[in-house]
Amino acid sequence: MIKASSTQNIPDTSLIPSHVAIIMDGNGRWATSRYLPRVAGHAKGVESVRAIVKACVARKISYLTLFAFSSENWRRPADEVSLLMRLFSTALEREVNRMFATGIRLRVVGDLSRFDARLQDQIAQAELKTKDNDTLNLTICANYGGRWDMLQAMNKAADSLPVGSEFTEQDIAPHLAMAFAPEPDLFIRTGGEQRISNFLLWQLAYTELYFTDTYWPDFDAASLDEAIDSYQQRERRFGRTSAQLIEVRKAS
Ligand code: IPE
Ligand code: IPE
Ligand code: MG
Repeated sequence: MIKASSTQNIPDTSLIPSHVAIIMDGNGRWATSRYLPRVAGHAKGVESVRAIVKACVARKISYLTLFAFSSENWRRPADEVSLLMRLFSTALEREVNRMFATGIRLRVVGDLSRFDARLQDQIAQAELKTKDNDTLNLTICANYGGRWDMLQAMNKAADSLPVGSEFTEQDIAPHLAMAFAPEPDLFIRTGGEQRISNFLLWQLAYTELYFTDTYWPDFDAASLDEAIDSYQQRERRFGRTSAQLIEVRKAS
């Protein structure tokens, strides 16, 4: 028997998406095109994060998930990796009070065990400080990989089920790193590449995908609105026909 997919309800695309997930790509090329070192692009990218977080709060988006560092980004030169870690730590230090005051709840998901103890501690403090907020659920994916996420969820499901039992979606989904959030409605990738790069593999099953050539440091509130406009033109069918959607809407 085919088990029902978790992706069941049909969100109204004329509304603001409730969960936006972004691959913030193109920092290095932004810098290189200006004859600047790649690190200058990462520093400018932090400013875009600030602007987009603010824009999401203003648009009443409930969940914003940002891919900041993938499990594959360790392959980069050591000095770029350590600079990214420093930037992350500085941004946390500078922004956490503002996030708290704006009502933002911060979570950092990924295999955090590979980060140094001080950064892990800083993350834990920031999560704790903002844990009762609910204006915007901001999630930073750091040392995150979609395959890592699915495997750790499957291992946890295996531990909690009798030996030899078959998994269902419902056994795995609650153990995923982003189980607290609905699946993303809108995925955005800046920087021109049209790929998922091991982001939220499970959760993107029925997400609307939007790709833009704009480099992340140039992505601003107007660019976000263009992506939302594109989303609002889409018809999400989740396997059904257009005619059926009208019936499903009437019934709900
Ligand atoms: C995204 O920008 C930031 C991270 C992956 C950390 P890139 O650094 O990948 O920029 P490009 O793709 O090289 O331009
Ligand atoms: C994806 O960007 C990861 C992040 C933005 C954190 P990459 O620049 O690492 O992706 P690839 O290597 O071009 O696929
Ligand atoms: Mg890149």
